[in-house]
Amino acid sequence: MWRNAFSKINLTLEVLGRRPDGYHEVATVMQEIDLADDIVVEAADDIVFESDIDGVPPEQDLAFRAATLLRDIAKVSQGARIRVAKHVPTAAGLGGGSSDAACVLRGLNDLWRLGWSDSRLIQLAGQLGSDVPFFISGGTALAQGRGEVLSLLRGVPSQSFVLVCPPMRIDAKTSMLFKMLEPAMFTDGRKSQRLAETMGRGIPGREEDLVNVFEHVAENAFPALARYRDRFLKAGASIVHLSGAGPSLFALCPDEAWAKALHQSCKREGLHAFVVKGVSRLV
Ligand code: C5P
Repeated sequence: MWRNAFSKINLTLEVLGRRPDGYHEVATVMQEIDLADDIVVEAADDIVFESDIDGVPPEQDLAFRAATLLRDIAKVSQGARIRVAKHVPTAAGLGGGSSDAACVLRGLNDLWRLGWSDSRLIQLAGQLGSDVPFFISGGTALAQGRGEVLSLLRGVPSQSFVLVCPPMRIDAKTSMLFKMLEPAMFTDGRKSQRLAETMGRGIPGREEDLVNVFEHVAENAFPALARYRDRFLKAGASIVHLSGAGPSLFALCPDEAWAKALHQSCKREGLHAFVVKGVSRLV
């Protein structure tokens, strides 16, 4: 059976400070969106991994690593055949690889009848990457710590967004962008707390609530980003926000019709754009 591995945007992303373990303390409101990779997990003797992304050895793929980690920790003797059809742009700030990994953990938990709870899966997911725990629960969440301390929020059903994904990639992007941050850019997490509180009451986020610390450095890391932002604005977006460490940009849309019109206009501008909706898990 095929499963959707949804992607995400960060409605807020604040860094509170550096930690002794080399990570940063964050406060981020993450919103799952309905742009998804398709993943199938089925019975097999060994772990067999197939992805339609060329040239990436399986052992470097987070979803494959998720499978071998769970098999080793849960001491499972069965295997699984995992197929990934990618639709989410990779290394784009949308969490595609992290979501695939979480989807594989959930799929194998079912296939191997492990009966692990979400909180146990979340704990394991944290060993794979800071964004992976969020995708075990999905929906809308305030993530703190290095990203693995989750408060699930009720969220706002069917909020529409348009994404623009500039075709720019950097090796080890996330760690590089974190290294570019300076202490003067750190904040206290209050904006994320405030948005979490209003969204938890089912009230949609407003433009002025959205903030992303990587806005300070993203245009140094991705020099062409400013040009994409201008083209997105020219297509009709009123305010454009960065997702994660970029380079994906998104616009919050008042309704679906507005989002569809903006999406068409982005396509006419020649931008790689998607119209998406927020995924709600708690209603
Ligand atoms: O956790 P993940 O492997 O996705 O993180 C990639 C890199 O991003 C880390 O090695 C670290 O340099 C940086 N990072 C950080 N603080 C976080 C999350 C990631 O410094 N909260």
